Amino acid sequence: MAPDPWEGCFWSWGLLLWLSVGSTGDAPPTPQTKCTDFQNANLLQGTNLKAHFLLFTPSDPLCGQLVEESSDIRNLGFNATLGTKLVIHGFRALGTKPSWIDKFISALLQAADANVIAVDWVYGSTGVYFSAVENVVKLGLEISRFLRKLLVLGVSESSIHIIGVSLGAHVGGMVGHFYKGQLGQITDLGIRIPVGHVDYYVNGGQDQPGCPTSISAGYSYLICDHMRAVHIYISALENSCPLMAFPCTSYKVFLAGHCLDCFNPFLLSCPRIGLVEQGGVKIEPLPKEVKVYLLTTSTAPYCVHHSLVEFYLLKLRNQDTCITVTFLSSSVTSSVTITIPRQQRHGKGIIAHPSPQCQINQVKLKFQPSNRVWKKDRTIVIGMFCTAPLPVHDNRRTVCLPEPVNLQASETVSHDLKITCI
Ligand SMILES: *[C@@H]1O[C@H](CO)[C@@H](O)[C@H](O)[C@H]1NC(C)=O
Repeated sequence: MAPDPWEGCFWSWGLLLWLSVGSTGDAPPTPQTKCTDFQNANLLQGTNLKAHFLLFTPSDPLCGQLVEESSDIRNLGFNATLGTKLVIHGFRALGTKPSWIDKFISALLQAADANVIAVDWVYGSTGVYFSAVENVVKLGLEISRFLRKLLVLGVSESSIHIIGVSLGAHVGGMVGHFYKGQLGQITDLGIRIPVGHVDYYVNGGQDQPGCPTSISAGYSYLICDHMRAVHIYISALENSCPLMAFPCTSYKVFLAGHCLDCFNPFLLSCPRIGLVEQGGVKIEPLPKEVKVYLLTTSTAPYCVHHSLVEFYLLKLRNQDTCITVTFLSSSVTSSVTITIPRQQRHGKGIIAHPSPQCQINQVKLKFQPSNRVWKKDRTIVIGMFCTAPLPVHDNRRTVCLPEPVNLQASETVSHDLKITCI
C-alpha cells in the first residue's frame, strides 16, 4: 500500500449543464499562433507560483498559447460559445512538465468540442511538498480571477469544467468553493473519503492492478496507483468501452455480489467515467457523496464488463466451498473465486471481463479442495452455475448451464457458454 496522500482513484463532479450563450458575431482576426510549452523549474524555486494559463483549441491540440494578463483570449482562438475545460496538474517533485499532460489534452480535444486551458504551475508545485501545498489557495484565487475574465466574455459558469489531478484536485475543489458550487463540473482525482456527488473507487480505490507492490520499485511504487486515475480517464476519453460503476456501501460488499444495479440512488442510470453527459446519471437533483465501485484490467484501456456469477449446491456441506470461475473469450481469460458458506446453498461473486459477456465462449469451473495437499481430496460437489451481466435489473439476462455440474476437487470442468449479443 502506498502512503497517503498518494492513494486512491476517484472522480467527483458537480452538476453538469451545458448552456449555449449567444453567438460571437463576426469572426475574430486570424490569430498569430505562438506555441508555449510548460515551464521547467528547478528544485529550489518551489515558493514562487508563476502560474501560466495555456489555451489549447480544437484547431491545434498540440499548441499551447500563453494567455497573458493584458491580452484578449478571443484573439488566441478562444470560443466563448463552447464549453471550457481547465486542467490542473499536481505536485511536481522535480519541477518538470507532467508526462501525461499532452496526451490528456489531445484526448480531451478529441472527445469534446471545447476550449482547453492547462494551468502550468510547475514552479509553485515543486520543491518540498509542504511549500506546494501552501500555494494551493493562492493558485485557487488566481484561477478564480482568470475564470472571472471568461465570464465577462459571456461564458456561463455552467459551461466550465475543472479537471484537477492530485494536489491540483484540491485546487479544483477550492475554485469550485469560491464559485459557490455554480461551476458546471469538477472532476478530481485522489482522496479516500467521498466528497463529490459521485465518488469512484476504482478497484476499491487503493492498490491498482499492474502497479508495483513493493517499495523496491522506488518512485513508481509511490506514484503508480495514484496516477492510474489519469490513465483511466484518458482511456475513457479515447475509447467507447464502458467504465461503468455501481453504488455500494463498500468494495468488499461490491465484490461479494450484493450491489448489482444502480437503482438506489440513480434509478435506471449508472454513472460512467468520462465525458458522458452528467456522468451518465439521469436524476436530478444529483445525490451527494455516493460511493460507486468498478474493476479494471491492469493495462490500457482498463475497462471491463462486470458479471454476477453464482453457484447453487444441490446438497448442503459442513464447510465453506470455494469454486473458481474462469471466463474465456477468444483473447482473454478472467477469473474469480466464489465462496459458498457452510450450511448454505448459494455463493456469488463479481467477475470482470474485458469483452462483453456475449463474447465469452466458455466457462471453466474448479472446486478448490480445502484439505492439505498430502491427502488427495476426492470430494465431489454438484450444483448449478448461473451468470448475469451487470447492471442486473431483473432475471431476464440470467443464463444458467442447462444441467447441474459435477465438480471433483482440483479438477477443472469446461462448459460452453452460449449467450446471444443484444
Ligand atoms: C464557436 O463554436 C461554435 C460551435 O461549435 C461555432 O458554430 C462557431 O463558428 C465558433 N466560432 C468561431 C469564431 O470559431
